[in-house]
Amino acid sequence: MQIIDGKKTAQDIKKEIAAEVAAMVEAGQRPPHLAAILVGNDGGSETYVANKVKACEDCGFESSTLRFDDTITEDQLIAEIQRLNEDPNVDGFIVQLPLPKHINEERVIEAIDYHKDVDGFQPINVGRLSIGLPCFKSATPSGIIELLDRYGIETKGKHAVVIGRSNIVGKPIAMLLMQKAQPGDCTVTVCHSSTKNLKEICLQADIVIAALGRPEFVKEDMIKPGAVVIDVGTTRVPDASRPSGYRLCGDVDYANVAEKCSFITPVPGGVGPMTICSLMKNTLLARKGEVFNF
Ligand code: GUN
Repeated sequence: MQIIDGKKTAQDIKKEIAAEVAAMVEAGQRPPHLAAILVGNDGGSETYVANKVKACEDCGFESSTLRFDDTITEDQLIAEIQRLNEDPNVDGFIVQLPLPKHINEERVIEAIDYHKDVDGFQPINVGRLSIGLPCFKSATPSGIIELLDRYGIETKGKHAVVIGRSNIVGKPIAMLLMQKAQPGDCTVTVCHSSTKNLKEICLQADIVIAALGRPEFVKEDMIKPGAVVIDVGTTRVPDASRPSGYRLCGDVDYANVAEKCSFITPVPGGVGPMTICSLMKNTLLARKGEVFNF
């Protein structure tokens, strides 16, 4: 069994990006600029945005965080998005989710200019992804594809089982894995909370993508020997022995599953660091204007 080291891969990729940005700046060009909108005081969102700002520093990007109180109205937030859409010095931006309950997330995401939608959440990018057109691909799925690629994992003709149907992970990773590409060319089954015979379906999988958000849900009796297991779960579970008071727990029962598979991603240090890395890659692409240049 080989552990897929997302932390190391993400560091390598950030170094590659930083070298390209240093060359851009050397040539007299402006570095990429990522902006993040953060609404309210959600602890998880604060950490995610802080990690994104740190990754920008590592890559030599400019970054800005626009913070708003959770009393901001939907219209005020959309006005802020329109300002960023029109700001020539911002190449890409994200609206950190979740948003407070009184704000309609779909309406907010639709307001983002898809040329600057480095999260790949805007419906134009999602639609383009689904029919294989150039687009910003959402960060976690493209991080998974990058790991499969860099670890030389053969995917053509393999049966990939995705557990979870979220817009951010389950649906887009299913789209990417089924596309005629390497990595890709898989036969994909998407399972969810209403799926019958989940265990039997998982047992047929050459590649399992666990993205349902239930700690240690995937047990060793659901995994075919030699399968590739990608764990997207990052649930915070209380842990009094940690200074933070919690630990991150994946969707896979790692200790038992690891013994059965050929490759596995740990939590933390697997898919998580790759997500931010993909956001950096998208921001660099946005700066270079290379995604929609047809
Ligand atoms: N909330 C959880 N993950 C993400 C992400 O990748 N992007 C944004 N904008 N919000 C999130």
